[in-house]
Amino acid sequence: MTAKLNIVPFVSVDHMMKLVLATGVERFLTDLAGYIEKDFRRWNVFDKTPRLASHSRDGVIELMATSDGDFYGFKYVNGHPKNMRRGLQTVTAFGMLADVGSGYPLLLTEMTILTALRTAATSALAARYLAPKGARTMAIIGNGAQSEFQAIAFKALLGIDRLRLYDIDIAASRKCAHNLAGRGFDIVICASSADAVEGAQIITTATADKQYATILTDNMVGTGVHINAVGGDCPGKTELHRDILLRSAIFVEFAPQTRIEGEIQQLAPDHPVVELSQVIDGQAEGRTSAEQVTLFDSVGFAVEDFSALRYVHDRLPGTGFSIDLDLLADPDEPRDLFGMLLRAGAKEMAQEPADP
Ligand SMILES: NC(=O)c1ccc[n+]([C@@H]2O[C@H](COP(=O)([O-])OP(=O)(O)OC[C@H]3O[C@@H](n4cnc5c(N)ncnc54)[C@H](O)[C@@H]3O)[C@@H](O)[C@H]2O)c1
Repeated sequence: MTAKLNIVPFVSVDHMMKLVLATGVERFLTDLAGYIEKDFRRWNVFDKTPRLASHSRDGVIELMATSDGDFYGFKYVNGHPKNMRRGLQTVTAFGMLADVGSGYPLLLTEMTILTALRTAATSALAARYLAPKGARTMAIIGNGAQSEFQAIAFKALLGIDRLRLYDIDIAASRKCAHNLAGRGFDIVICASSADAVEGAQIITTATADKQYATILTDNMVGTGVHINAVGGDCPGKTELHRDILLRSAIFVEFAPQTRIEGEIQQLAPDHPVVELSQVIDGQAEGRTSAEQVTLFDSVGFAVEDFSALRYVHDRLPGTGFSIDLDLLADPDEPRDLFGMLLRAGAKEMAQEPADP
């Protein structure tokens, strides 16, 4: 029997949580990092363009699309730092995977949870190539929605087991520590960013504020440290002091997008940066010495969402963690779309109860 192509599987938030929990968070992150790594290794096959961003005073709404020639994927995502104060998420998302041959969608899914997972998987993947060998301690500054995912990905992919947490709201750090309890971390809640980075070989910044913020100043970053800068991802929204950038080896996802959105928006447009895909496929070096400061200037790129969509699409069959959506009109004779509408009307009339 051929599958009904007009019926599209939909993964709700509830089903995504069940899929992640049934897989195991660490395994999900590790498998997803494997998909991302494979796609970064075949970087040239992808359609690549900076995302389409609609900025407003309070945030941004973005469309992120790409294709490898066989599949097409897109994500709708927002970033609204003030949302949290109204009890809403800073970042929410959903997305779709489609078949390039027919243009028919293959999967529609929530991507709020999936974005946190793919961001963390990408960060940890980058750190595998860039962080100092044997790193065990990571500072996480900004302990909101992304923070636990980052911690678990770094444990799964690099063996990070000591965390130093800092957030301007201590309730966020307490929440993060509580959620990570029993997962094999030694966790310290710190009183400041400067305190948090003390003795850390990796520093993750994941704060949310729509301004040129200075979460880290130059004197806080010692030699040999790897910085995973996640929160500066919009024009006018950065986390690091410019001086840190000037003495770091900088790695990015897709340079044309990062130059608009990343920490490097603070630098000259021709400041040298290396794309992570080049490091992954061996064209460029990652960390070259124990003393070097490396920076992954993460903003999030469409290929990572594409990898995540493909991973979920491959994992779904047989799990029962989706529902069928009647998403596409599918007349028996493709040109008779109007006839299908007429027949539906006639059927409805026939079903209407007769007047008493
Ligand atoms: N690079 C990517 O691919 C990617 C993906 C997802 C989210 N993000 C970005 O990551 C950031 C975090 O996202 P989230 O969903 O965790 O947001 P969130 O609102 O849930 O958490 C942000 C946390 O940062 C804290 N914070 C704000 N200013 C701070 C400061 N000066 N010092 C310390 N802590 C501070 C807040 O108190 C809050 O707990 C956002 O800026 C978001 O846009 C980037």
